Amino acid sequence: MNRLSLDVTNALAEACGDAAGVKIDDLRKLKPKINDALEKLKASCGHEDGFFLDLPIHPIDEEERLAKELRAEYENLVVIGIGGSALGTRAIYRGLRRPYSDRFRDGRPLGDALRLFFIENVDPIEIEDLLDSLDLERTVFNVVTKSGTTIETISAMLIVRQRLIDRFGQDGYRERMICTTGPENNALRNLAEEEGLRTFEIPPGVGGRYSALSAVGTLPLLCAGVDVPALLNGARAGRDNALHQDLESNVAVLFAAIQASFIERGTGDVVFMAYIPQFADLGEWFVQLWAESLGKTRKDGTSVGPTPIPAIGARDQHSLLQLMMEGPLERNVVFVEDERMPSHLQVPAAPPALAALKHLGERALSETLHAEQRGVEAALREAGRPSSTLRLHGVNEETIGAFVIVLEMATALTGLLLDINPFDQPGVELGKRYAHGILGHPGQATYLERLRQADDELVRRKLSF
Ligand code: PA5
Repeated sequence: MNRLSLDVTNALAEACGDAAGVKIDDLRKLKPKINDALEKLKASCGHEDGFFLDLPIHPIDEEERLAKELRAEYENLVVIGIGGSALGTRAIYRGLRRPYSDRFRDGRPLGDALRLFFIENVDPIEIEDLLDSLDLERTVFNVVTKSGTTIETISAMLIVRQRLIDRFGQDGYRERMICTTGPENNALRNLAEEEGLRTFEIPPGVGGRYSALSAVGTLPLLCAGVDVPALLNGARAGRDNALHQDLESNVAVLFAAIQASFIERGTGDVVFMAYIPQFADLGEWFVQLWAESLGKTRKDGTSVGPTPIPAIGARDQHSLLQLMMEGPLERNVVFVEDERMPSHLQVPAAPPALAALKHLGERALSETLHAEQRGVEAALREAGRPSSTLRLHGVNEETIGAFVIVLEMATALTGLLLDINPFDQPGVELGKRYAHGILGHPGQATYLERLRQADDELVRRKLSF
């Protein structure tokens, strides 16, 4: 069964010229490094701390049991989490759902599945509005944070906790709050133990942005009626392709090799342009995965960091395309397409007054979308701008599972090819420490002091009108 393929024709020098295109020889030269990187990733599989490549084979019985219970009792599930603790779940959920009706993409009704909502920020209006508009009696919450200390997540959870206690008492709160967190002693885990909350574990060896297929995603997605065994099955196939197939037919390897070559030649900023509008959230997920994994300082002090730019076709042809065509030659485009885009919606024949646009009528709308993408590909090639196409053979749990793991694998490989650690995020920490200090964390008081000192030394230049 085909799930995913990658077409790199338009990324190569023979298609878009020597200035931008990757040469086959450059790819060949990467082979020994790719083999080393693959060996490294293989060696991490099966570790007792867990590894993202092992997630497709993790048992989900506990999540299945609880999801069944929750689906019988509730109508809504609100995930409280940020970054890797929410983006993957939201992306898979929205990728599989219809945007406005309570149905899946293929028309399947939701049945007893829960509707998912996400609190991913500390916006007072959004949180209040959501809590006021949901029937809390029929709503369960899943707070997800690996560290158990994330400011945004814990602040939102405390608001929800208080609401639930005020309305339903301690027992009602306990029934409605489920935690997913790291195994070590952390603030959320302590609270969960003290208050008797049901808790799921995020393996310590799986970083947030690689955790979508752990309990982080599997519990809420099972509640939402997603066929998680099929999702994991697709991911397992993606993992097998990435780890064992010949380099020539390995999607993750080819994606990584092409992108690493672009990054080295200065065209690494990547426009991730999905011609599947329900993949907008998958674009956001990719942005975090790519940016947080690959924006790094190397050991020799140099910086590397391709900027990921999410886009949706055909819509964003009317905003980004001009820049992609004529802006500086510093980016490449990854198209994402569904080879089996549903073709049931037909554009009717154009009336005589629209004779000049007659060709738009009497065809499936999916054909129009496809023609738009082909047009942009051709235009980019003609302008000497490289692109490649990730093609899903239908959008369903199997193909999305493969898509997620292959991009995670490609990200990790790209990092290793660039001689950086794709699994850490040291740059994210400093801002967090400052914020904790500003909010009065005794352990981070020195950051408040540093901030005050720097503020005093700077001449403030503020304008208002
Ligand atoms: O990829 C990462 O590690 C981060 O983006 C985290 O997912 C994010 O910072 C949230 O962290 P936590 O799950 O600890 O709340």
